[in-house]
Amino acid sequence: MQYRRLGRSGLQVSELSLGSWVTYHNQVDVAAAREMLAAAFDAGVNFFDNAEAYAGGKSEVVMGEAIKALKWPRLNFIVSTKFFWGLDREGQAANRKDTLNRKYLMQAIDGSLQRMGLDFIDLVYCHRPDPQTPVEETVWAMSDMISRGKALYWGTSEWSAEEIRAAWDIAERHHLHKPVMEQPQYNLFYRKRVEQEYKRLYEDMGLGLTTWSPLASGLLTGKYRNGVPEGSRGAVEGMGFLVKGLTDSAKNSAVTQLQTVASDLGCSLGQMAIAWVARNPRVSTVITGASKISQLQDNLGAVDVIAKLTPEVMARIDQITAPLAS
Ligand SMILES: NC(=O)c1ccc[n+]([C@@H]2O[C@H](COP(=O)([O-])OP(=O)(O)OC[C@H]3O[C@@H](n4cnc5c(N)ncnc54)[C@H](OP(=O)(O)O)[C@@H]3O)[C@@H](O)[C@H]2O)c1
Repeated sequence: MQYRRLGRSGLQVSELSLGSWVTYHNQVDVAAAREMLAAAFDAGVNFFDNAEAYAGGKSEVVMGEAIKALKWPRLNFIVSTKFFWGLDREGQAANRKDTLNRKYLMQAIDGSLQRMGLDFIDLVYCHRPDPQTPVEETVWAMSDMISRGKALYWGTSEWSAEEIRAAWDIAERHHLHKPVMEQPQYNLFYRKRVEQEYKRLYEDMGLGLTTWSPLASGLLTGKYRNGVPEGSRGAVEGMGFLVKGLTDSAKNSAVTQLQTVASDLGCSLGQMAIAWVARNPRVSTVITGASKISQLQDNLGAVDVIAKLTPEVMARIDQITAPLAS
């Protein structure tokens, strides 16, 4: 496992990391989480991604309990959470909307700290942009979270380049803690934001990327070529919105062609897809996901595939996927 700086910060993150979306609480209990966290950690993974909204806060509880049981030295692991959707749907109508206002953010961090059982969270993200709150208010709140020792670095997720730059400029002007990283979707079928829209931000701001869904929710393992398999994410309650994309026939035909390239490299399709993301030097860490330890072990093998992605192999992959990528 190699380590990369998180953008311009001095923090070193493992090139592959592990996240808990969909899986923790729904498919993975504390014991299974503990087993997978331990296996990932033993393979050199040092970053574990989470969010307040995952499983309505229960994903943070599962990760917190598993980490506590593992008794890792605090210096050796990095955890994150993200804020936007909020958990308390019982409040007054005016205060239960998706938001990045100061009131919500200052309460949200305390809730996450409590659920995870930690004194501070390493990385905190604004999970989506909030057009209803001035960016300045959000930047001050995120910076204050850091000044108060509740978090160490902050960033955004799925913000436009323009929004990220506006936040960075405000922080620069007021000598506040700047956003360090963005968390965008990035995989063989979803590329434009990382490769085009954010292009200038890497040099101008030193933006780091912690990218999500390297397997496009499992599509890039080939498991959806004959429909939605039982027990897969596409069959999980509440995930129906993914099914159209997962069973897209053009993408699944491309996946069949990609299988040949992976076979020539002597690796699994998933390993090749994860390695392809990691091969982009703008990516600080590829956040992977797994519902089973066998998947995790397979995915961790991607580190050995990165060097096999020569310009010739990249051209073959591009020929198959570029026409379908958004
Ligand atoms: N910031 C955001 O808005 C955002 C959004 C999404 C995700 N994320 C973060 O990014 C992380 C990774 O995203 P993701 O979970 O969507 O990643 P992904 O790699 O695209 O999908 C992971 C899922 O694919 C299936 N899978 C993984 N490895 C496999 C293998 N070797 N063979 C067969 N199936 C395999 C598993 O689902 P099944 O076994 O259930 O089929 C697994 O849960 C999340 O956990 C979360 O931390 C962030």
